[in-house]
Amino acid sequence: MVAMLEKDLGALYAHFIGGRRVRGDGEPDLVRANPAATDEVLGSLCSADLATVRSAVQVAAAACPKWRNTPAPSRGRVLLEATRLMDAHREELAQLIALEEGKALKDARVEVQRGINITEFMSGEGRRFGGYTSASESSTKFAFTTRQPLGVVACITPWNFPIAIPAWKIAPALVAGNSVILKPASATPGCAVRLAELYQEAGVPDGVLNVLAARGGPAAEALLDAEEVRAVSLTGSTATGRHVAARCAARGVPVQAELGGKNAAIVLADADLDLAAAGIADGAFGSTGQRCTATSRTIVVDSVADRLLDKVVARARALKVGPGIAEDTDVGPAVTADQRKIVLDYLEVGAREGAEVVYRGELGALSAGHWLAPTVFDRVRPEMRVAREEIFGPVLSIIRVPDADAAFEAANAVEYGLAASVYTHDVQAIFRFVDRVDVGIAHVNQPTLGGEVHLPFGGVKSSGIGPHEQGRDAIDFFTKIKTVYVNHG
Ligand code: UN1
Repeated sequence: MVAMLEKDLGALYAHFIGGRRVRGDGEPDLVRANPAATDEVLGSLCSADLATVRSAVQVAAAACPKWRNTPAPSRGRVLLEATRLMDAHREELAQLIALEEGKALKDARVEVQRGINITEFMSGEGRRFGGYTSASESSTKFAFTTRQPLGVVACITPWNFPIAIPAWKIAPALVAGNSVILKPASATPGCAVRLAELYQEAGVPDGVLNVLAARGGPAAEALLDAEEVRAVSLTGSTATGRHVAARCAARGVPVQAELGGKNAAIVLADADLDLAAAGIADGAFGSTGQRCTATSRTIVVDSVADRLLDKVVARARALKVGPGIAEDTDVGPAVTADQRKIVLDYLEVGAREGAEVVYRGELGALSAGHWLAPTVFDRVRPEMRVAREEIFGPVLSIIRVPDADAAFEAANAVEYGLAASVYTHDVQAIFRFVDRVDVGIAHVNQPTLGGEVHLPFGGVKSSGIGPHEQGRDAIDFFTKIKTVYVNHG
């Protein structure tokens, strides 16, 4: 089954333009090795050059008018069919994620469900698409707003959710009537092409949804600079997001950017420590810690810190590191050698700064892969780099504080503001947390992870630029409002 999938994955290493796979001529420069078996090549292709970008943009622009004039409820129906197809292919998609990105299958299945959920939710927006009517200052005027697509939009997505993040950008963009150029991370182009093919099979017309596999650099910049591209939605690092936002600002093109995080789970004295430990271990080590909502800090009040730490370490000890594609794996490899190196460097930084390594997992006998052992640092102080910088790996920093107010202050002492959680039953503390902790997503008695697709998702401070993704408001970013006054006097 897996051997079969590897062959299929290799064939997905292509661009997807005008409704079909397109492979450039010449020596492939984008070569993807299996993160769990680095001597195996999963796929390779010639990364998009300037001519390929140009052709994709032109194809997308040419496809716009027909899609734009397809009634919104019909566009929604196409998304409903895409939902059905993703559901029918859910196991194939989960295995693709596990193989290409390296994520444990159990996490990959949750990710696929997320992609299905957002496609389903956005399909309904087709029938709700539109503006509103209003009273006018004049009795012979009728006033209303109407909503129109922008044209061609670019969606730039990371490797860590190679199905769900593309889905949650392209679904609102498409139901709103835009043509899309999806530029996935160069580590996971195969998942993006498969997703696009399922949408295509569902009825998205040729050229309305295109995938360009390109590294950063001139081709990616050309996509940002293309006159036809009217909005850019990006998920990635804060540095990339700011670069893209600045570049697009020069043309007056709006950017929606979902960026880094340094999310804290706060544990107060009265917390259910078993619940907290379970949520913290899942948040810190699930998906190998490679998610922007990962729990990379735990801020715990002194009186329960030792007991919580024992419980978190016991859970970390039970985790099995291995290939994502193996059913019993809890923690897959890092996505690339570079990513692994970044995480290993942070382990040295933490030790040098005086954080105490209270747990570092055993790796056991594994084949050549980008393996990382779950690690817990205790007695981390808020000013240390491991307390402030996004690590993007299975590394948890424990910060001990005297009380709830000190916990909230420590939670805010980072440049990021994506998600946070608090474990307590004290209703006053819960509302102080909600009011004071400066994040886009606040959780009470649950992990810092994820969210539900029908609600907005995004961060504040260095975690985001522009409007949030998902939820009903996601349509706003991908449409323009026209206000209309009709004088019928
Ligand atoms: C999640 O953590 O469930 O890149 C979603 C990321 C985020 C998405 C996270 N934009 O990790």
